[in-house]
Amino acid sequence: MCGIVGYIGHQGASSILVDGLRSLEYRGYDSAGIALAPGDGSFRITRASGKLVNLQARLDFSDPTPVGIGHTRWATHGRPTEENAHPHRSADGKVVAVHNGIFENYLELREELSKAGHTFVSETDTECFPVLVSHLMSEGRDFAMAFREALGRVRGIYALACLHADDPSRILVGRSGPPLIIGIGEGENFLASDVVPLLKYTRRVIYLEDGDLAELRAEGVRIFRQDGSEVTREVHTIPYDPVSAEKGRFKHFMQKEIFEQPLAISNTLLNRLPIDGETLPLELPYTDEELRGFKRIVILACGTSRHAGLVGQFYIEHIARLSTEVDYGSEYRYREPVVEPGTLAIGITQSGETADTLAALKEAASRGARTLAICNVQGSTATRTAEAVLLTHAGPEIGVASTKAFTTQLAVLLLLAIRLGDARGTLDPALRAELLQGLRELPAVMERAVNQEKTLIKWAHRWQEARDFLYLARGPLYPIALEGALKLKEISYIHAEGYPAGEMKHGPIALIDQHLPIVAVMPRDEHREKTLSNLQEAAAREGRILALVTEGDTGLAGIAEDTLEMPEVHPWLAPILYSVPLQLLAYHIAVLRGCDVDQPRNLAKSVTVE
Ligand code: M6R
Repeated sequence: MCGIVGYIGHQGASSILVDGLRSLEYRGYDSAGIALAPGDGSFRITRASGKLVNLQARLDFSDPTPVGIGHTRWATHGRPTEENAHPHRSADGKVVAVHNGIFENYLELREELSKAGHTFVSETDTECFPVLVSHLMSEGRDFAMAFREALGRVRGIYALACLHADDPSRILVGRSGPPLIIGIGEGENFLASDVVPLLKYTRRVIYLEDGDLAELRAEGVRIFRQDGSEVTREVHTIPYDPVSAEKGRFKHFMQKEIFEQPLAISNTLLNRLPIDGETLPLELPYTDEELRGFKRIVILACGTSRHAGLVGQFYIEHIARLSTEVDYGSEYRYREPVVEPGTLAIGITQSGETADTLAALKEAASRGARTLAICNVQGSTATRTAEAVLLTHAGPEIGVASTKAFTTQLAVLLLLAIRLGDARGTLDPALRAELLQGLRELPAVMERAVNQEKTLIKWAHRWQEARDFLYLARGPLYPIALEGALKLKEISYIHAEGYPAGEMKHGPIALIDQHLPIVAVMPRDEHREKTLSNLQEAAAREGRILALVTEGDTGLAGIAEDTLEMPEVHPWLAPILYSVPLQLLAYHIAVLRGCDVDQPRNLAKSVTVE
């Protein structure tokens, strides 16, 4: 999704803006631009379609102008051309704006402003905003008043930053929907769509709330509401180490993030595992009695986070005996959901900003559900709107394809199931002890899994030309088959399907021939024999089988062409462990195919529009 940056202070803004945009590249974009306000009544606007290097090549980094705004655009209205790239300006050249979101009434506004004599040069919805501000100023309002009034006229969602050529001492910003974060410096202030670009300069940030407007000057920041009243917002200190947002020795962020999983899991479990028979110290605001009062769980999420939710469904139903449904964030609110008393709605979202998941949680809350967010970004909208929050401590995830955020979501869901099981008295003590011991050992076992990379590179070389892939598994691993397929298609653009293995003969079996690689995830568990029968059916149709099995399992000889032996773990931990080889397989196939692994085409890291 689009990314916004802004700077006002005492240093040349262009390199700070471009650096910031580079940190936001992972969100996905197809053009970029910046505007500087040198204070001579004009702007220096530079824009380019395609990657940031195209913009960089056009910029003069020796320009000392200390105020500017920048943008990476992910096209929604209009093609990804230079003309449609932000910043957009008013026809009189006095107002520029960058925008993340959608103005739903832009056609009406365009028509009205055209009738008033204004001209438009782009196909975007955004352009109407600077034109409207300039129009309102031509009627006598000052910049701040016109900005506020223009925000009152647009319908839709926005994170916006706006500059006036004759008033370069301030950047005006507004937020309703997509995130916008202010970084507080010394004699300088920063603006960005997430914290990552700010970390290099400051750890002190303010998260703007929906309906907030702010005025950034070099010497300070003021925040207002739409009615003009001034408000104070808490200044948060971000704990991230800036280095964790760098690639280090790895070729891509995705590879680094796959390798960070042992640490990410260990950070996520830190202080959450009980000693002996203690209650699980999970930071939930519910008493045991309240936990017992929940009658039903509904998990709401999109993409990879939804796959985590599908595993969570197995965990919660098995361990806490609590009926659980999982729905797409994008579908839930349109099906008139029945929310019974005693429903806990769990939104799973790495970014905490996915519009569909947020809307689904809101819908559940409006129908009386209690709400819990499982999220990786402290301070994000999900963490600020849900009643309860469980953070995954994966650290910043930059690669668009989610990896460590996913496996840490699984770890948190397992902890939650144990906590619910404890409160409800449904968890067998022996199973509890096994799970807790398994969780304690998990970081070390994950380390062994990432060290299987060499085998997966070999597999990647062998299978990189395949046109399609089928992923099969059963039980709590079937969502891992879905996730393996999603990873592969996201970054290598190879068509892939994930299925519960038992479902294969109800349709996908028609796809099987000697060209189709079938990745089977089949540890030694209660489902193994049944999955094996399904693979025999596939092998009989000349399907090419690649199997992930438990160490020492030789039962696939003669059926599988390639076998990878994985460390033995408790079956409920297998979804976390077996995610790793599937991530590595997708990663290496994508690298061999020359794909842009960290920023796959058309994808955005944080999908802030419906
Ligand atoms: O930030 P979220 O977890 O809410 O994002 C949801 C999906 O957009 C996300 O998981 C997407 O599927 C990723 N690209 C997966 O790799």
